[in-house]
Amino acid sequence: MSKPVIWIPRRLSDATIARARRDYDVILTEDDTPGTPDEIVAMSSRVDAMIPCHSERFSAEVVARLDPRLRIVANHSVGVDHCDLDALKSAGIMVTNTPDVLSDATAELAMLLMLGAARHAVSADRLVRQGEWDSWSPSFMVGKQVTGGRVGIVGMGRVGRAFAEKARGFGMEIHYHNRSQLSSEVEQGAIFHRDLDDLLEVSDFLTLHCPATSDTIDLLDATRIAKLPEGAVVVNTARGALVDEDALLAAIRSGHIAAAGLDCFKREPGGNPAFARHENIFMLPHIGSATVSTRDAMGFRALDNLDAFFAGQEPGDRLV
Ligand code: DGY
Repeated sequence: MSKPVIWIPRRLSDATIARARRDYDVILTEDDTPGTPDEIVAMSSRVDAMIPCHSERFSAEVVARLDPRLRIVANHSVGVDHCDLDALKSAGIMVTNTPDVLSDATAELAMLLMLGAARHAVSADRLVRQGEWDSWSPSFMVGKQVTGGRVGIVGMGRVGRAFAEKARGFGMEIHYHNRSQLSSEVEQGAIFHRDLDDLLEVSDFLTLHCPATSDTIDLLDATRIAKLPEGAVVVNTARGALVDEDALLAAIRSGHIAAAGLDCFKREPGGNPAFARHENIFMLPHIGSATVSTRDAMGFRALDNLDAFFAGQEPGDRLV
């Protein structure tokens, strides 16, 4: 029997590609560039399935042009804001994602951003790297201590909980806002705030771990930023869409926000050039899940979903 044909538009891990080639007839895009809407549409008549990343956009317009041959979009990402799920569902195309497997890597990066932002990582590194470090004083590069600090977590899903676990290691007082309160075993002493504004008022450090949906676009706007304590540090490893970047910039300029650590931006790739003038904004290029073991686990999870689908079973991570 012939194997199902799948398209993998981006360069996934070697182990993922090897397994995919073993079990499927794989079409790879060798140059590793984001699949354009026209490429996605053209490929849909050649394949039964796709394993895209968040860089391939399945808007309603794209979905309307897809060939009925395409039966499943098995995302290599946990976030699916690049997919119009309603449109895909109406088109009868199944969609899956890769939850769980990237929670630790992303939480780890959020911790790096929080520490780096709080302790002047950008300017300190530049000073040493450029040979400009010519003095020392007790009042030099004094940062904000993370250990024992109060952290507010917006979104206590898998990544939020993984972050909380790491923050406990730093003796932080953990507060969170979530759609629903977690059980006390899962909370492990974390303090629930039903109202986001209440969370903001106690968040000397704030970290975002919720998905980008129509309800969360610009969730952190000027009004909410104003509710954060003076000198707060903001971290975003979720999606750029969650933050009003002009409002964040204004708060960085005024000093109300002491520092920010950002792995996600409204415009990706590229980021926000206006942030670059501020060394108290520690920036990374959307690499939250970029570790060797996590990339393998994401690829394998996407393939597990495809395997279940083509075996006539329900994929574990089916969204629509
Ligand atoms: C995700 O999985 O959503 C990450 O942002 C990488 O795409």
